[in-house]
Amino acid sequence: MLNTSIHYENGRLFCDGVAVAEIAAQVGTPAYIYSGTRFLSNLRRIQAAFPTAHIHYSAKANGNLAIMKMLVNAGAGIDAVSAGEIHRALIAGAQPENIVFAGVGKTGQELYYALSRGVGWFNIENVEECRLLNSMAGAAQMVARVALRLNPDVAANTHRHIATGHGKAKFGMSTETIRDLLTRQGEFSNLSFEGIHIHIGSQLHDTTATQAAIRAALDVIQPYPTMRTVDIGGGLPVAYSADEIVPDVEAFAASILPLLEGYEVILEPGRAIIADAGMLITRVQYIKEQGEAKFAIVDAGMTELIRPALYEAHHEIVPLVEQGLPRESVQVVGPVCETTDVLGRDVALPPLAAGDCLAVLTAGAYGMVMASNYNARPRPPEVLVDPNGKSWYLVRRRETWDDLVAPELA
Ligand code: LLP
Repeated sequence: MLNTSIHYENGRLFCDGVAVAEIAAQVGTPAYIYSGTRFLSNLRRIQAAFPTAHIHYSAKANGNLAIMKMLVNAGAGIDAVSAGEIHRALIAGAQPENIVFAGVGKTGQELYYALSRGVGWFNIENVEECRLLNSMAGAAQMVARVALRLNPDVAANTHRHIATGHGKAKFGMSTETIRDLLTRQGEFSNLSFEGIHIHIGSQLHDTTATQAAIRAALDVIQPYPTMRTVDIGGGLPVAYSADEIVPDVEAFAASILPLLEGYEVILEPGRAIIADAGMLITRVQYIKEQGEAKFAIVDAGMTELIRPALYEAHHEIVPLVEQGLPRESVQVVGPVCETTDVLGRDVALPPLAAGDCLAVLTAGAYGMVMASNYNARPRPPEVLVDPNGKSWYLVRRRETWDDLVAPELA
């Protein structure tokens, strides 16, 4: 969706003060473009709405180092879900104590790495992990600070593929398991139980389930005075189209903060910071009319942005040049050999020809991080439009065919 950073000026699409066509001409397509102004202002808005909370940017949404560096410099901690993400976060300048390490299946090697780097929080997802971390911390003569991830058994109002808090999901531990762990804290002498963690899903369309989850979490920790921190995970939504109604960050805060008075609060937003700061630009290769449909075959597809194929997600697709011409319905499809390789169905676009460029909007989160090399397609470059709004630079180069074969030992 368009916003104050990604907007038209005299019929030309701009990212802040830079014409997107200028970037397309220089770096080629497909390419991701991000507005530094937009993601920093998204972070500031969350910081203002949750003034006393610790905001840990969820690196899984977009782990680009340049972006993470700017967010860290602006005061964000990091939510990491693998040793690889911790590695990235440290390179980006995050202080280890400002990193929370979550993840349903952390390996011993990853736990060891996190312990040895002094990572601030371990969000524990099962009893065996608790035992393993305790013994590793013991061997290292350390005490690790943990938050127990509760599966509150609530139904989040979101797509079923990104709901995590229902009782049948693999995430977190049941209320009974956590109660049991808390009564047996003494058995884990190298763990300090200080927090409870919930993350009931992503792109939450209302706060009802989050409120229920918070109430369940507080109920579990209430008898334990050392359990002072509530990590409510991510899930703050963004609008992917003008008619998608989602609570804004202020409304989200207003509905849950009153429940959390007296507790330290951690938040792990990813999408709400970076999604609407990013776009994927792509060029029409061919136009084909077939079976009563008009296809625009473009040079980006599910390899660059898998969200439409994986979650039937909607992303607005707009032309780089808007001349007010009448719209027609177009199927915007990628070049990958898969039927689901569709970026947009029935998109209303002006008449297109080969060579025209399009922008797939709200693609900053779960875009490049989920890109693949399927069909031996090099992953696209990433461009950052500086927060000064004028200069722009590559923050990741386009992969080459040699990059594709580099790890192989033939
Ligand atoms: N914390 C935890 C424990 C998470 O699992 C996630 C996301 C987040 C924070 C950040 O959530 P956010 O604020 O971005 O909603 N690939 C999917 C989304 C998967 C989200 C996974 N976990 C998509 O493209 O919609």
